[in-house]
Amino acid sequence: MDDKNPPLVIAIASGKGGTGKSTLSISLAMALADLGKRVAVLDANLELPSIASLLNISPTYTITDLIEGRQSIREVICNGPQGINLILGSSLPQPARKLSTAHHFGIVNAFDTISKELDILIVDTAPGINNASLNFIRASQEVLIVTTSEPTAIASANALINTLHKNYNLQNFRIVINRVYDIHEGPKTFKAIQKSHFNNIEIFITYAGHIHEHKSARIAASKGQAIYKMFPKSEFSHDVKKLSQTIETWPIRVNPRGHIEFFMEELIGKASKVLDVDEKSALNSSIS
Ligand SMILES: Nc1ncnc2c1ncn2[C@@H]1O[C@H](COP(=O)(O)OP(=O)(O)OP(=O)(O)O)[C@@H](O)[C@H]1O
Ligand SMILES: [Mg+2]
Repeated sequence: MDDKNPPLVIAIASGKGGTGKSTLSISLAMALADLGKRVAVLDANLELPSIASLLNISPTYTITDLIEGRQSIREVICNGPQGINLILGSSLPQPARKLSTAHHFGIVNAFDTISKELDILIVDTAPGINNASLNFIRASQEVLIVTTSEPTAIASANALINTLHKNYNLQNFRIVINRVYDIHEGPKTFKAIQKSHFNNIEIFITYAGHIHEHKSARIAASKGQAIYKMFPKSEFSHDVKKLSQTIETWPIRVNPRGHIEFFMEELIGKASKVLDVDEKSALNSSIS
């Protein structure tokens, strides 16, 4: 194991689908790279990955190769635009496969083995309250919830926060309001979210920022380009840059990998007797 701290792992999450997680993950990674950070984006939307198609990349190896122990993390990482690294899913339909918590935690933990080459890992999750996303979020130090101002998006963001707190005792949530039309919309929507959790003193919700609506988002996606790269002078890119600067100021959590470290220790202890072949392979590829 390298002696450098493990990379800062940020889960990009949402309750409702289509709030802009993947679009933001890519542009944010580029903005962080512009700040000199070594960044990777993991497409953790295992069933419906989209980063490869958003950037028009056909990866040689995908996350499935990592999960099944065929390739190590180094082989699966590919170079993306603007110096970012990518770990992509296959755009081909994958045979349905039930992955365990060991797999999900193992995937994130695998990045610790390349900690000397990486400062930040952005984990783009699938929307909603599903096992995989909850596990990826628990394996991260920071959770950045992306929502729009639509009532259904806000309600599902609140449901996600409540589930993460109730089931796993997560307490800190950062919120970014996407697709705003003016600078007041972000703080206003954030206050509505904050108000919903006012009675729970164990939940800490922080405003991470807003991202403006970009009228040509679809054009950028259809050209396999990030908005941040194609429209660097837009309000969208300005907001993403600001978010990247905010992330730089986030303090390192005292017990940053509490969940994952506890889980991995438990798992390694049990590995010889309890785990099935797939779980062992996930664990081995993460610690080799
Ligand atoms: N700031 C923005 N301005 C305009 N359009 C945007 C913005 N952010 C995202 N979009 C558009 O919203 C749609 C959904 O975006 P994206 O795929 O990034 O969402 P997602 O949260 O990753 O979706 P899923 O939950 O399915 O993974 C896309 O058409 C994208 O171009
Ligand atoms: Mg997505």
